[in-house]
Amino acid sequence: MHATREQVAEQPDWSQRQIAYYRARAAEYDSAYDERTNMPRLVEALNELPISDDVLEVACGTRQWTQLLANRARILTALDAAPEMLRIARARMRGTTTRFIEADIFAWEPDRQYDTVFFAFWLSHVPPVEMKAFWNLLRWALAPGGCVVFLDDSSAKAEIEEPVTEAQVPTVRRILAEGSHHHAVKVLHDAPGLISRLNDLGWEAHIEPIGDFHFAGIARPREGE
Ligand SMILES: C[S@@+](CC[C@H](N)C(=O)[O-])C[C@H]1O[C@@H](n2cnc3c(N)ncnc32)[C@H](O)[C@@H]1O
Repeated sequence: MHATREQVAEQPDWSQRQIAYYRARAAEYDSAYDERTNMPRLVEALNELPISDDVLEVACGTRQWTQLLANRARILTALDAAPEMLRIARARMRGTTTRFIEADIFAWEPDRQYDTVFFAFWLSHVPPVEMKAFWNLLRWALAPGGCVVFLDDSSAKAEIEEPVTEAQVPTVRRILAEGSHHHAVKVLHDAPGLISRLNDLGWEAHIEPIGDFHFAGIARPREGE
């Protein structure tokens, strides 16, 4: 379902711009994906991560990870805010039981509790101002004993980004193949800083580097918080 007019009006500019960027990028999203992400190494890492039962994928994009999660999940739900991304993902996952949800994660209320919440290349798009609310949402979305699993860019990726210095939240400039210019939130976490931030938010996190440019994380809510 599309966001209502009122919800769109409430979305901060940075979020509207980020969604607009991904809507425009959907058709070219997969070009050079493997090269950008070192997919074989990340897939190897994914195989070692605890993903099971009722799984929610946040920001699924074109289904780069959805297909791999489908092999491990008992039930799989994939959410994204960009209808153009979801159209591609849905077509590619046709014939599977994957449930897709079109929603802005910052305005979404989980419909049930999940054993695993997974996201790849999403946490770096969550600005510091939304971290607490986002991790509270994850706590709410997680079934007892469940965990959050994530993959993302490491701080070494800073060398390829072009920051927008005057932005409200950490932002980088992106240019699409057809020449249009966009803004996206980009927060490149280093492992100790992210572990400490998640600890402050009531999570036990374990983060492992994957090569020079990526990391994998597992986070569980601390008991009683
Ligand atoms: C870097 S892509 C990651 C896609 C996929 N996880 C992957 O690794 O290929 C970021 C994704 O976040 C989605 N997105 C952006 N803002 C969002 C929001 N507010 N709520 C949900 N998804 C959002 C975009 O549409 C895009 O598909």
